[in-house]
Amino acid sequence: MKYNFDEIVPRRRTNSYKWDTAQEENVLPMWVADMDFRTAPPVVEALRKRVEHGIFGYTKVPSAYYEAVINWFARRHGWQIKKDWITYTLGVVPALSAVIKALTVPGDKVLVQTPVYNCFFSSIRNNGCEVVENPLLYINETYRIDFTGLEQKAADPKVKLLLLCNPHNPAGRVWTRQELTRIGEICLRNDVIVVADEIHCELVFPGHTYTPFASISKEFLMHSVTCTSPSKAFNLAGLQIANIISADEYMRMEIDKAININEVCDVNPFGVEALIAAYNEGEEWLEELKHYLVVNYNYLKAYFNEYLPGFPVVMLEGTYLVWVDCSILKRRSKEIAETLLREEKLWINEGSMYGEAGENFIRLNIACPRQVLIDGLDRLKRGIKETMI
Ligand SMILES: Cc1ncc(COP(=O)(O)O)c(C=O)c1O
Repeated sequence: MKYNFDEIVPRRRTNSYKWDTAQEENVLPMWVADMDFRTAPPVVEALRKRVEHGIFGYTKVPSAYYEAVINWFARRHGWQIKKDWITYTLGVVPALSAVIKALTVPGDKVLVQTPVYNCFFSSIRNNGCEVVENPLLYINETYRIDFTGLEQKAADPKVKLLLLCNPHNPAGRVWTRQELTRIGEICLRNDVIVVADEIHCELVFPGHTYTPFASISKEFLMHSVTCTSPSKAFNLAGLQIANIISADEYMRMEIDKAININEVCDVNPFGVEALIAAYNEGEEWLEELKHYLVVNYNYLKAYFNEYLPGFPVVMLEGTYLVWVDCSILKRRSKEIAETLLREEKLWINEGSMYGEAGENFIRLNIACPRQVLIDGLDRLKRGIKETMI
């Protein structure tokens, strides 16, 4: 390996949301989707150069930015994006919120497949819309789509959008082309626009393939909006940069209005430099990162097999967010999370954050050096065995 993902980089007292939110020094955070690895060296180098310039005025996004996005998706995912389709903004959540504002009126309904990323719920409600849940089916330690439920719910004329999480946080699925095609056909038949949050698209493990929803057909492209960012794959969340990709001119105009109304239309110089460097020069680092994450996941699986066999680990096809079934404890997930924090100083996410369908689960972030992962697993094992069973 050229890059050292085993290196422990102290993050306390760096104003890290993940590390500095807990007051106590010895809390181990395995919650928010933020990695404990330094980003790719070319990104650090690009940022260093920009810092050395010393002037940080308002930013004009250069054509090199668009080229980096276009080339990345063409090269890695076979998706040809046109420059005009790209609207930059401050993050995927601001993107989702603006897209919902642009394509609905208050009182409309938006479909989600639960358990799902918690901000989906708030973005829908903040825009005056109603959440309609089509829970995923939990079968044999993985999730499937309930297509019958989806067809029924999409048929409600008040349902205007489906927020698709591809790959899916926290269910760990990388939706197949076949699954995406069925989703798209249902949505087309019922005049539902697909809003694809593809922020986790680079973190896909061997044996699985990310398919950009909009790349499947011209019809899907014209009836969807895609939100992406290099922020998860390259650990750049604090730099606040993301893209909304929409081929339909009318939708794009409405989205542009919404990002202006929401005042999320200006980005900062670091986000722009980081994205260009990551997409143009970060591939080699990303491939090694993925390898490291797979080994972490396999380590965790083996650990559970040995010490916590009653706790099924949901199959992880992508992302670094592991979803663990804790039904055996017969406790609410909030109580499990509070107990782990209190007794073992381990901070994980309670499954109920992701909708009622997540109630029996917890979510663990495994994007950390292996030694930290082992510490987290030991705390989890002790917390469960000594205080909950
Ligand atoms: C599915 C999904 N969308 C969006 C985000 C956050 O995006 P951003 O930080 O760009 O607003 C996350 C973060 O975990 C996520 O998992």
